Amino acid sequence: MKKVLVPALFLATLVIFQFCSSSKKAQKAPKITYSNKVQSVIAGSCAPCHVGNARSGHLDSYDSARVHIDEIVRRIQLNPTDKGYMPSKRQKLPDSTIQFFIAWKNAGTPQ
Ligand code: HEC
Repeated sequence: MKKVLVPALFLATLVIFQFCSSSKKAQKAPKITYSNKVQSVIAGSCAPCHVGNARSGHLDSYDSARVHIDEIVRRIQLNPTDKGYMPSKRQKLPDSTIQFFIAWKNAGTPQ
């Protein structure tokens, strides 16, 4: 019995240790900033309407994204059928992307 138990406990400890160290890594993840992430998400999901297009308002600079962050967070959480929903005429953003905009806002929109 002991012969089985010892390796089993050892394995369990390994698994737990692995879990703890990976959650620590997650906390140490680099901060979300405009230049390391926001810019590319906007370029990917909100262009061409908001990049180089004066009619729908530019979101293609740090300042314009920062100034509009409340509206961005509000609109991307609407239902696609709601008035003001963004990205207009497209599928709703994945939840991880929505959470990502919220995290950037809560972090104080770092550049
Ligand atoms: C197919 C074109 C299109 C796409 C894609 C699109 N938008 Fe828009 N957006 C518009 C138009 C047109 C308006 C102006 C009308 C309005 O306010 O609803 C607008 C307005 C906005 C506004 C308000 C701007 C202001 O000056 O108050 C925000 C914020 C916004 N969009 C965010 C986004 C975000 C974030 C994305 C990407 C996730 C996105 N939009 C994708 C067309 C688009």
